[in-house]
Amino acid sequence: MAFATRRFVRAASSAAATAAAKKLIVKHVTVIGGGLMGAGIAQVAAASGHTVVLVDQSDEILKKSTKGIEESLKRVIKKKFADKPEAGAEFIEKTLKNLTTSTDAVAVVHSTDLVIEAIVENQEIKNELFKRLDKFAPEHTIFASNTSSLQITQLANSTTRQDRFGGLHFFNPVPMMKLVEVIKTPMTSQKTFESLVDFSKAVGKSPVSCKDTPGFIVNRLLVPYMMEAVRLFERGDASKEDIDVAMKLGAGYPMGPFELLDYVGLDTSKYIIDGWHSLEPNNPLFAPSPLLNKLVEEKKLGKKTGEGFYKYK
Ligand code: NAI
Repeated sequence: MAFATRRFVRAASSAAATAAAKKLIVKHVTVIGGGLMGAGIAQVAAASGHTVVLVDQSDEILKKSTKGIEESLKRVIKKKFADKPEAGAEFIEKTLKNLTTSTDAVAVVHSTDLVIEAIVENQEIKNELFKRLDKFAPEHTIFASNTSSLQITQLANSTTRQDRFGGLHFFNPVPMMKLVEVIKTPMTSQKTFESLVDFSKAVGKSPVSCKDTPGFIVNRLLVPYMMEAVRLFERGDASKEDIDVAMKLGAGYPMGPFELLDYVGLDTSKYIIDGWHSLEPNNPLFAPSPLLNKLVEEKKLGKKTGEGFYKYK
């Protein structure tokens, strides 16, 4: 009898251990922030069969996000279902059925498996949001941030679920760009990391993994490259036009570094480089540029303001 009991206890505890070690299959997703990135993330998650609640600060913003998603879906079906309009219409209907919106993150987070944060790039505001949601989200819920330049570890530290916290860095425009960088902090559990990798695959993306290091992979290489181009131009070594032509024709890049800076936004680029410079002031790759600072001061922020390194009027 004692033997049977011991065996039963052993079997039960090993079943519990297996269950605990099992990856989380994400079905219900809450995306916070319905801007450029959040709307895209909500769209791909809903299109791949997840139920999604998109949260933002007002119904007006959410209306705009939903309209943007509807228009983007129409573009998707033009490509994906070019000769099957009925299947395309069904795809849109199913996707929109999976998507709801809310202005109250706390009220919706109780039934979610994964929270993806894509709000304004501000450490304090993000920390405050995560801290608040940590109190209301279920135990199993994974938190992820789409931040481009902040440390995931610092965001995770605003919660009590550091092991269930990671980075999911999508690229703009989300429905088109195939890459997701999955960021593992020293505290992220293997189970959480694997769940985030699986989720990225489930939404049709190709995940790569990176530690919690400034810029992760893509921006860590891209931003210093663009800054080096600005420095080359500042020194008078070559014109910006020639640098752009050189990188397009010589390196096969689709855009030159100045075209890319204008596309990304000079304010965004300055924000990123200033943040890294304050983390590593002696790293010459992260040195600020007087020319970039001057253009931002003059509100020449790139394509979005009609002028950056180039004019767009
Ligand atoms: P965005 O400005 O287009 O959208 C941010 C949205 O968050 C806005 O709609 C705003 O109303 C909402 N928001 C702000 N505070 C909120 C709060 N407390 N609760 C709910 N909603 C709130 O910004 P974007 O470009 O979508 O960026 C979002 C995040 O994604 C940032 O962390 C950014 O670094 C990151 N990211 C941006 C990329 C880009 O190319 N724009 C690329 C990859 C990551």
